[in-house]
Amino acid sequence: MIALGIEGTAHTLGVGVVTEDRVLANVFHTLTTDRGGIHPKEAAEHHARLMRPLLKKALETSGIGMKDVDLIAFSQGPGLGPALRVVATAARALSIKYRKPIVGVNHCIAHVEITKMFGVRDPVGLYVSGGNTQVLALEGGRYRVFGETLDIGIGNAIDTFARELGIGFPGGPRIEKLAREGKKYIELPYAVKGMDLSFSGILTEAVRKYRSGRYRVEDLAYSFQETAFAALVEVTERALAHTGKDEVVLVGGVAANNRLREMLSIMAEDRGVDFFVPPYDLCRDNGAMIAYTGLRMYLGGVRFRIEDTRVRQKFRTDEVEVTWG
Ligand code: ATP
Ligand code: FE2
Repeated sequence: MIALGIEGTAHTLGVGVVTEDRVLANVFHTLTTDRGGIHPKEAAEHHARLMRPLLKKALETSGIGMKDVDLIAFSQGPGLGPALRVVATAARALSIKYRKPIVGVNHCIAHVEITKMFGVRDPVGLYVSGGNTQVLALEGGRYRVFGETLDIGIGNAIDTFARELGIGFPGGPRIEKLAREGKKYIELPYAVKGMDLSFSGILTEAVRKYRSGRYRVEDLAYSFQETAFAALVEVTERALAHTGKDEVVLVGGVAANNRLREMLSIMAEDRGVDFFVPPYDLCRDNGAMIAYTGLRMYLGGVRFRIEDTRVRQKFRTDEVEVTWG
């Protein structure tokens, strides 16, 4: 079976083509601005402009035509309303024009589900990106959120700190590089609140310390990462303990970070659980994860009528009944 998936919850438009066990194409384009931040209308215009060229490129890359596609999947939410509507409209048009079934996919769940293409069976997922920070796992037929950020995503926190340092956007890779030169740990507020996380305190304090001029930026970058990542690892470990699962996966754009990978792999090894990170193009926002999750849903009996395809800006991870397996 061949599924085509369209992702567009935020600033990346992605189109992927997959089978049950292979990615045939995974192309994307990201709207970037120097200011960073959220731009729902600009994202929608970006997606509308790039929809045709990316669809064409995905089909060319996979060497198939629309007639060979068996299913259209799209990111139904959560995300920016105007951006979601462009994606849903395109998916509906394809579904109607080519008479293909359509399935709406929860973006957060797709980030974790794609790991199953690589033999992962039933993991605890740490999903970390610009806008999202969530620890999720299947329990009782749904993906439950065991911990999530109460304010900003870890990626946004890092990007905002990087902008304050004047090192541009996106900040993740640059902060990671600076952090490698850090020598001294500077105390910052810890980010765990119960089972949830909060990164605004670390950010405010790191900015304050930077402005005081009394600290090396390398030490601040290093301390920022150590403090924030320790909190992520702690909440993930507690979810593993609670669920008794023996696999943990790291997904989302921040999965690029080598220090975070290292900290998680050490925790996994200590607990005797498997640790997996997908190739980066399947970690970041992408169409292949949407296509693959849609395909699994469809094979598991999920069916959508056109009326069911309305976008869901606040689509919660635990709203989806997981009937596929
Ligand atoms: P979402 O819509 O899921 O929130 P997004 O729009 O933030 O996704 P992604 O590509 O998933 O897009 O993630 C981008 C984020 O990843 C940015 O905040 C960026 O700084 C961060 N990032 C990228 N590389 C690294 C790195 N090496 N270390 C830390 N963060 C990183
Ligand atoms: Fe994402």
